[in-house]
Amino acid sequence: MTNKKLKVVLAYSGGLDTSIILKWLQTEYDAEVVTFTANLGQGEEIEPARAKAEMLGVSPENIFIEDLREEFVRDYVFPMFRANAVYEGDYLLGTAIARPLIAKRQIEIARAVGADAVCHGATGKGNDQVRFELGYYALEPDIRVIAPWREWPYASRDALIDFAEKHQIPIATDKRGDAPFSIDANLLHSSSEGKVLEDPAVEAPEYVHQRTISPEDAPDTPTVVTIDFDRGDPVAIDGQRLSPAALLTALNKLGHDNGIGRLDLVENRFVGMKSRGVYETPGGTILLAAHRGIESITLDGGAMHLKDELMPRYASLIYNGFWFSPEREMLQAAIDHSQSQVSGQVRVKLYKGNAMVIGRSSSASLYDHDLVTFEEGSGKYDHRDAAGFIRLTALRLRTLAQRKARLKS
Ligand code: ARG
Repeated sequence: MTNKKLKVVLAYSGGLDTSIILKWLQTEYDAEVVTFTANLGQGEEIEPARAKAEMLGVSPENIFIEDLREEFVRDYVFPMFRANAVYEGDYLLGTAIARPLIAKRQIEIARAVGADAVCHGATGKGNDQVRFELGYYALEPDIRVIAPWREWPYASRDALIDFAEKHQIPIATDKRGDAPFSIDANLLHSSSEGKVLEDPAVEAPEYVHQRTISPEDAPDTPTVVTIDFDRGDPVAIDGQRLSPAALLTALNKLGHDNGIGRLDLVENRFVGMKSRGVYETPGGTILLAAHRGIESITLDGGAMHLKDELMPRYASLIYNGFWFSPEREMLQAAIDHSQSQVSGQVRVKLYKGNAMVIGRSSSASLYDHDLVTFEEGSGKYDHRDAAGFIRLTALRLRTLAQRKARLKS
């Protein structure tokens, strides 16, 4: 009887940790490993992952390397920004929004190669294990999930390094000691957590930041950019049309140069504990301000307020890993519907860590100068209507005040 080998699709960065996982799957599970490496704009070369995987015994047809930057920005980042999604008041969800796409491609590859299982390198304490696995199960209900960090016995960095050495996995000298903190990066953001950042009372050292110069070092003269929107999505910068990934890349550069998008946050993880993170979302921070700017003239007030009420719920769904859920899709449909007239131009001033909207215009604008002007308007608005409006609105408050006076006497 021949026992068929377990075939596993591993989300493989090419780094030390996932190389150890790769080897561990081969030794512990006697698995045939398929590696999937995605370029999401993390700023590292991904091609070297091919040679590394081959060196670790993965056969060439089992190595998948893909540039997903356009899909990431077009189908995940932009839809999320239509909602102005922000978690707990500050976090632009840069890590959370990348996970569903990785999970989706892993499942697609698993189907294509006939794999039995998928595997990720997220630890057993974080949100990312939840996000990956909710994605897997939503798309492939009976998939087998292997999460090495929850299974293997290696409690310390030293134990992992021992394993790597025993299996001749090359270790860069700077990876030998404890990493000073953990990083996750993609085109939207970089996040740093752990180690030197674990005391929330202590300011993050400057070297933690990798995507922005500090606002103190930013130029003394402001930069003004114009962003064009088409139905809620940015399409051009200073009149130049750009693809989604190229546009976010350009905003990242502007944000970097002006010290925009730094955040030091203590957040509530889905798995229960509070954690401190240092985030940089340079382009996303500009985009959020600009998107709110174009909505401010093109979106009806009632629609806007409902959107703002739904937003925290939508943000939590993404944070908690429910991208592939009916409730996220319901909210997305409503949000997308609201964007049909959200088109036009926004001018943003970038200056020492700030992205300030200084002008907005649109052929679909609801801003009516004649209605709002302090000068005499054309008569569309009758001041006398306001008197009855206010008296009726105050009716309840007057009744309450009358009772108060009555009970006092
Ligand atoms: N706390 C953030 C989140 O849950 C980031 C997690 C990954 N970051 C990291 N440095 N490992 O979205």
